[in-house]
Amino acid sequence: MSYRTIIEPFRIHSVQDIAFPSLEEREAALRRAGYNLFGLHADEVIIDLLTDSGTGSMSDRQWAAMMVGDESYAGSRSFYRLQEAVQDLTGLEEVIPTHQGRAAERILFATTVEAGDVVPNNTHFDTTRANVEYQGAEARDLVIPEGRDPAADHPFKGNMDVAALERTIEEVGAERIPLVMVTVTNNSGGGQPVSLANLRAVREVCDRHGLPLFLDACRFAENAWFVKQREPGHAQRTPRAIAREMFRLADGCTFSAKKDAIANIGGFIALKDREVAARCRNLLILTEGFPTYGGLAGRDLEAIAQGLEEVLSEDYLRYRIRSTEYLGEKCRAAGVPIVWPPGGHAVYLDARALLPHIPAAQYPAQSLAVELYREGGVRGVEIGSVMFGKVNSDGTETPAAMELVRLAVPRRTYTQSHVDYVGEVILAVAERAADLPGYRIVEQAPWLRHFTAIFAPVVDGGR
Ligand SMILES: Cc1ncc(COP(=O)(O)O)c(C=O)c1O
Repeated sequence: MSYRTIIEPFRIHSVQDIAFPSLEEREAALRRAGYNLFGLHADEVIIDLLTDSGTGSMSDRQWAAMMVGDESYAGSRSFYRLQEAVQDLTGLEEVIPTHQGRAAERILFATTVEAGDVVPNNTHFDTTRANVEYQGAEARDLVIPEGRDPAADHPFKGNMDVAALERTIEEVGAERIPLVMVTVTNNSGGGQPVSLANLRAVREVCDRHGLPLFLDACRFAENAWFVKQREPGHAQRTPRAIAREMFRLADGCTFSAKKDAIANIGGFIALKDREVAARCRNLLILTEGFPTYGGLAGRDLEAIAQGLEEVLSEDYLRYRIRSTEYLGEKCRAAGVPIVWPPGGHAVYLDARALLPHIPAAQYPAQSLAVELYREGGVRGVEIGSVMFGKVNSDGTETPAAMELVRLAVPRRTYTQSHVDYVGEVILAVAERAADLPGYRIVEQAPWLRHFTAIFAPVVDGGR
């Protein structure tokens, strides 16, 4: 069909009410939550773009699959359905379900990473970084320079800097690198894709040094769609064929089924190495559950298996990537700086560019995220120095490479008018950007502080 409007490729079958808290209620909620949007009750939020993780709408086929879930403790039929779906997609024989992505990370890193090791990645996601660091190892981000510049237009800003990877291997020695990871798409770097050519180049370096290559594959289908659209020679291929090629370049992957399996919970590790898989399963039994359910119900395994199939539909991916791009274009047309081009699952507002009067030490992206909620009940998340700033031993902080607010679009959940509303709220906040205050942290945890930190506005520019 030759019409310009790309419509949602589904009808809505069941709906949930949205709450409409007043401005006074939103301000009270902010004060109660210590200006941390993770502390809000979901019913205090009008449009929730905190995450695309576990917030998607399942299809009628997923709900139907859940009804036939087999809840057997050992050898559940639902596990074998999932195992087959994952093996077919990834070509990886060993499939280990986990309750979500970070459980897969913890188990894989506890099994393979030692203190003093270095794990290269294009950009570690927050839980990935934390789980590497928890083993006493260094999580090193090696994305290409364009991936650190919000305004740089590049079709594959998630690519790994292959020369920097070579230099890292030379500097630390292959024996201190247990594995190389590539995150597709690169969430913390703006949801930007990785090209197949780049994955092949990383594979070649890994082969030369005898290093295993793992994908953090949460958004593998969105990445495959970008390859189809942007990488020469792939336009005629199906997303499934591209995804299969991506996985076949890897020795293993971690996966959060809350993203590109459109499930509300779940994850897995898949890998080739039987010996590493056996060690992972031993740890899994200790903390997650028996290896044929890994902390999930049989019905969850069914929903994931079904979702892995649906997510590769061209109609779905065309709509999915277009709806994120639509929000990005709205921001850009209004002169609001964003990471360009828009990512697959989210639009990232560039708070450093929008709020130049707030120094990194006063968390400009936190300020912008708070204001979007105050103004219109829109909840995004800070991806800047609160999340990735490094607290030094003398109490000073090294700021993050970028100060972003991520507006993540849940899958199949909001319609075009919801997105139009979000566009209006962003505009209203941008018009009074110069008046927004900085924030300071009053209380914080030693790891992943952004989830629980308490903030206070900085009054009159002082601390
Ligand atoms: C790239 C990436 N890796 C890992 C994870 C962790 O997955 P989970 O939230 O299921 O633990 C996420 C979650 O957002 C992610 O985006």
